[in-house]
Amino acid sequence: MEEVFSLVKEKVEAKKCEAMAGLVKEAEEIMKSTEKGMVRDAGIILAAQKVEHYEIATYGTLLSFAKTLGEDQAADLLQKTLSEEMGADVKLTEIAESFVNEEAMEAA
Ligand SMILES: [Fe+2]
Repeated sequence: MEEVFSLVKEKVEAKKCEAMAGLVKEAEEIMKSTEKGMVRDAGIILAAQKVEHYEIATYGTLLSFAKTLGEDQAADLLQKTLSEEMGADVKLTEIAESFVNEEAMEAA
């Protein structure tokens, strides 16, 4: 993001994201309310995918803004990050669907 801000000649300013803080809090609550095992793991994957989806929405919108502004270099960087976030989401789905969800269901 620092590179993107530099490309569009804007000052970087950190700001707390309340939505992301809420997603992290929810993940912590899942950890607290479950015992170690597959049910907890399934819950952690759920929480992680919510984070990934939030990131995908954010980077997707920023990419759209960069394209609209004709900021091609910034758009390229944002597309790369968006693709990484989408890849992480796909991997989490693969892990959940390969064995975690089924073993969590059997353990519940
Ligand atoms: Fe991510």
